[in-house]
Amino acid sequence: MDVTWSDDLATGVYDIDDQHKEIFRRFDRLFAACGQGKGKEEVLQLLIFLEDYVKEHFAAEEKLQMRSAYPDYTSHRAEHTRFVTDVAKLTNEFKSEGVTLSLVIMTNKTLAAWLVQHIRKTDMAFASYLRQQGK
Ligand SMILES: [Fe+2]
Repeated sequence: MDVTWSDDLATGVYDIDDQHKEIFRRFDRLFAACGQGKGKEEVLQLLIFLEDYVKEHFAAEEKLQMRSAYPDYTSHRAEHTRFVTDVAKLTNEFKSEGVTLSLVIMTNKTLAAWLVQHIRKTDMAFASYLRQQGK
């Protein structure tokens, strides 16, 4: 799964793109650690980061959507909620079972895949709505 940032992931909304890039950098760190056999040490760092940062990032996106009366706000927000729930599940798994290989794989594959798909489809749709609105 390639989660390297590329320009085709840019929504054109500066703050959102900037926050997405930071999230990608953190995933990259986990991938690099996995490549060196140190994924287990890094996975908790990523989960802790995601718990805080992603909530703020989603809140920023949702605020923009409310402000621009985005018609797909509810479904977009539901996708965010699912991701936050998944991160919380993995964090709880970490607390109860420690770092397992399945935890590393879920974090690194499932969350990253969600992120790329969400940006490509859902965030892009919002960005194109903003452009249509001339915002
Ligand atoms: Fe989003």
